[in-house]
Amino acid sequence: MSETCALILDSVASRKADRLAAALNEVVDVDLLLMRILSNARSLLNCEAGSVYMLRDDKLILASSQNDYLERIVGGSALLPFVNLQLNLDRSSLAGYVALEAKPLVINNTLDIDPDAPFEHFKAVDNNNSYLCQAVMTVPIKCQDGHNFGVIQVINPIGEQGQVVPFREQDESVLGYYVQWAAMALERALEQRSMTLRSAEVLSVHDPRETTAHVQRVACLTLELYEHWALKRKIPYMERFRVTNILPLAAMLHDIGKMGVPEYILTKPGRLDLKERAIMEEHVLIGARLFKSRRTALDALTYQVILDHHERWDGQGYPGWVDPDTNAPLPGFLDGGGRARGKKGEEISIYGRVLAVADVYDALVTRKSYKDPFDESLSLQIMEQESGRHFDPEVVEALFAKRPVLKKIMERFPDAAVKSDLANDLPLARAPEAYPVSY
Ligand SMILES: [Fe+2]
Repeated sequence: MSETCALILDSVASRKADRLAAALNEVVDVDLLLMRILSNARSLLNCEAGSVYMLRDDKLILASSQNDYLERIVGGSALLPFVNLQLNLDRSSLAGYVALEAKPLVINNTLDIDPDAPFEHFKAVDNNNSYLCQAVMTVPIKCQDGHNFGVIQVINPIGEQGQVVPFREQDESVLGYYVQWAAMALERALEQRSMTLRSAEVLSVHDPRETTAHVQRVACLTLELYEHWALKRKIPYMERFRVTNILPLAAMLHDIGKMGVPEYILTKPGRLDLKERAIMEEHVLIGARLFKSRRTALDALTYQVILDHHERWDGQGYPGWVDPDTNAPLPGFLDGGGRARGKKGEEISIYGRVLAVADVYDALVTRKSYKDPFDESLSLQIMEQESGRHFDPEVVEALFAKRPVLKKIMERFPDAAVKSDLANDLPLARAPEAYPVSY
């Protein structure tokens, strides 16, 4: 290739890299961002597959994975993001080597790696999937202070005839340039998720029953239920994207108002009396008031999630149609006794309806100070009994449809994890079925 031709190619590629990097700015959610970082990187170099690994202590944890070939052959799998693949931070994998060395590595034929090379190709993933990762470029994702978030791998560039071709000479610098911008977007999203999880962490000091793992599980379940509901209802992609981009963060804050409830009530072992119950129920209004300005889409969604998560489908929930500032009934929404009537059915936002199912299901399947964990079948049976009473029947249906991932979510965020372990702010693991993998 002539030098002029290479320069023209470079400038075209870098313009594309700029455009793809700019498209990362609209993404708030860590999982969505990782998916988009990866799909854009693949699009930049026309690669068939790719992965992102996040560095945690001495492990590289698979955070996002895409493979057009496997999707075509075995079909998309909702379980794929829940695969708990961890690589050691050592030279036994290309990803481990790049994370250690903090510099890119391009291999055009993994079958021909020099046995004396200071790294190995970790073949187990390929072997398990009957896939050949032939050409692979691995680039570290470094944040602004220089430390590594992890690595991104793009695999098997596809040529004009549909065959795997070697990477071009300029590809390394093009991807490196794009990944610099991607790292900034990732740092921003991780920061926001960490800040949200810290709020949950503070709440868990006040109320030991509110673990960080619980809010992560609820966020993950809420997202899965909403996505299923939205797909079934044929909600347009842009609306689904708008909601799922911020719903996990909003869901993590659903009980933040408990900070305003006295500790003796939160931790009382027995049943609450009427007065104590009324104080406990105020957590919804205390929480909603924190977001009442609704200046941003995230604030507005969080406000609605908090306000609606204890409403019931049959109208018997709380706080009902009240002014969150004063707790006074809203005009036109009084019941026979002059009190605010509960919201019912679709008067309750879908965000509150999915969160209610996620929150109660999680309480059933986990250990509480007052009960042992129920198994999945019994928990689902209880949820079904409450369909049309406490819960939106369509959302309960979504819970059953998501049965294959329920246990995976529980395993991913166990209560047994060290409570103050903010290292657990990994992606929630989002099912890719609802999203195109290429942009
Ligand atoms: Fe609550």
